[in-house]
Amino acid sequence: MTVVAIAHPNIALAKYWGKRPGAGNIPAVPSLSVTLAGLTTRTEVDLLPGTAEDRLTINGRTISCEPGGKTGNVFQELRELAKSEARFDVRSTNDFPTASGLASSASGFAALVVGCAAALGLDASTEQLALVGMRGSASAARSFFPDFAELVPGDDTVRVGPVPVAAGVDLRVVVAVTDEGPKALSSSEGMKLVARTSMFHEAWLAGAPRIYAAVREALGAGDFERLGPLVEESALAMHASCIAAGVVYFQPATLAAYATVRRLRDQGISAWATMDAGPHVKVVTRAGDVVAVVAALEATPGVLRTLVAAPGLGARVEA
Ligand code: PMV
Repeated sequence: MTVVAIAHPNIALAKYWGKRPGAGNIPAVPSLSVTLAGLTTRTEVDLLPGTAEDRLTINGRTISCEPGGKTGNVFQELRELAKSEARFDVRSTNDFPTASGLASSASGFAALVVGCAAALGLDASTEQLALVGMRGSASAARSFFPDFAELVPGDDTVRVGPVPVAAGVDLRVVVAVTDEGPKALSSSEGMKLVARTSMFHEAWLAGAPRIYAAVREALGAGDFERLGPLVEESALAMHASCIAAGVVYFQPATLAAYATVRRLRDQGISAWATMDAGPHVKVVTRAGDVVAVVAALEATPGVLRTLVAAPGLGARVEA
């Protein structure tokens, strides 16, 4: 029987950038995100009896999932956990731009893992599944959880799970889409290049844990005015370390949208920008300011359209 899994991308409020040396795809620094309702990956999974290869399509296009690659490793880990030889036929679709810095890999791997685990009848906790998802895309581990989630590398283990938030935090994310195409440089390649060549990489590794801890505290206290500047600082520090290595994800429309966000603040609207490995600008604001933020972004040259998201559900199998 076909299993259908649903997951949403997440946007890091405190970003990770860079991996621990060695295997496991473990982030170098802790991160904390909000899962975005309204942007959705829908993934169908069937088990393939009597075949030797897995199959994967994303938006109808066949994607390589050879052993040793990211997806191949995730499939293999699931088989080992379930003590199964089964092969998977996975068909995934996104209702938002794919591989362009909107975290489609996060929702993609989260839906894939939840769907494949259900198809295998695997009895595993959400934390266990999230750590399997991390092998494919570290940020994916956070999309297994609703609302706010964190991924925290420790000495011997990695902690992943929900983050406590004060009641009444009416946070919204307005995404200014600036490009419908895929990004030029994947986050994995970008991270490697930055770790190797950016003079600011060590400063980023030293500073990111402080921003993560402060973001966590501000959310716990429900203090949006403390949260906003930290969110922006995290993104700007990450991109500063990238730019020093020639890894530039910004486009003219990215800077135009960021200028709009700063202008909104001058007008008394609490809006804060964050950008990932792509040109889009995600604006963290309050529910009551969404209309003003959307209007200002849509009037910004180069902004193609906006998407509005509230904190969303974690990855799940469709009933
Ligand atoms: O784990 P990846 O390959 O999806 O990379 C995520 C990188 C950022 O989105 C820039 C930061 C983050 O913490 O999500």
